[in-house]
Amino acid sequence: MNTLTVSESDLRIAAAALAAGKLVAFPTETVYGLGANAYDSRALARVFEAKRRPAFDPLIVHIADLSALDRVADLGALRPEAAEKARLLAERLWPGPLTLILPKRPVVSDLATSGLPSVAVRLPAHPVARRLIELSTGAIAAPSANPFGYLSPTRASHVRAQLGDRVDYIVDGGRCEVGVESTVLDLCGEEPTVLRPGGMEIERISALVGAVSIFDRSVAVPTAPGQLPSHYAPRAPLVLHAPGGLSSLEPNPSEALLFASGASRDAAFAAGKRPDQWMAVRVLSERGDSLEAASNLFDLLHELDSSGAGRIHAERVRPEAGGLAAAVNDRLFKASEK
Ligand code: TXA
Ligand code: MG
Repeated sequence: MNTLTVSESDLRIAAAALAAGKLVAFPTETVYGLGANAYDSRALARVFEAKRRPAFDPLIVHIADLSALDRVADLGALRPEAAEKARLLAERLWPGPLTLILPKRPVVSDLATSGLPSVAVRLPAHPVARRLIELSTGAIAAPSANPFGYLSPTRASHVRAQLGDRVDYIVDGGRCEVGVESTVLDLCGEEPTVLRPGGMEIERISALVGAVSIFDRSVAVPTAPGQLPSHYAPRAPLVLHAPGGLSSLEPNPSEALLFASGASRDAAFAAGKRPDQWMAVRVLSERGDSLEAASNLFDLLHELDSSGAGRIHAERVRPEAGGLAAAVNDRLFKASEK
């Protein structure tokens, strides 16, 4: 794997490599993506191979500007009110951490969509991602740049450690700000449906388009593998606890703790128990802010996973925190031992 900077000349090298069918990992505002030309089936096949990802799990097609939307998706195939909602969301919430599921145009390779009649489209906010897409073919399919089922990467070093030489280039753009993947919203059904909570708050979506249903894993059969319960998992088993639940654990020097807030940590260590009785102790957000918790989530899980801890105990974020609390709790649930 060759590392590139975010300079214009390096981005041109990366863009040419993508256009030539190579795999390029690149930063977005959510997590690092493993990019391939969305019009090139052979390049896409290499993405599935590099990630050891099952071919039934479709990829997100990333575009660099709004005008590219109609090249990959056919909004005319939607009911008129759904098409209107799609346009409104694209115009108001892009660029940003929102992925829209829309009817697919035939130019997009069936490998990118796993043969589905729909395509996932996202216009990322990260300037490096957009410049790269623009300089290459204008449509780059990219899953998160992690092996299937493992923690998503929020730094170039995570990609290097996890995928190494299975990727041709990595553009190192530092740490990803949002820290959790995009919110995936399906517009092909009766009413807009969130298939995966993520970096775009659901309140911001419903403020624009009204009622949104939320895929409920406890009652429905998963249709998108982001909905599979065991996903985004660290190597060490992760045990999920209710808010405040870490206070009742007996100290164990071979295990690690991940608190939701500084207040929970302080409560847990109030009665004579000490942080140094654990292998490692981390806090998602000192002030209990869900955006900050999301931003730190995968970073801290990577850190705890490489700390040598035999088990990670994590505390759910209080849902009433709103914002990205649902996305953080979704990832913690998927990372946990069932
Ligand atoms: O933030 C993100 O979304 C990151 C960055 C790189 O953009 N990408 C990402 O991709 O998380 P990935 O492949 O790890 O997750 C894509 C999700 C999967 O859950 C997949 O099943 C779903 O989107 N998906 C893709 N195409 C779909 C479709 N046509 N219908 C339903 N779900 C789809
Ligand atoms: Mg992923």
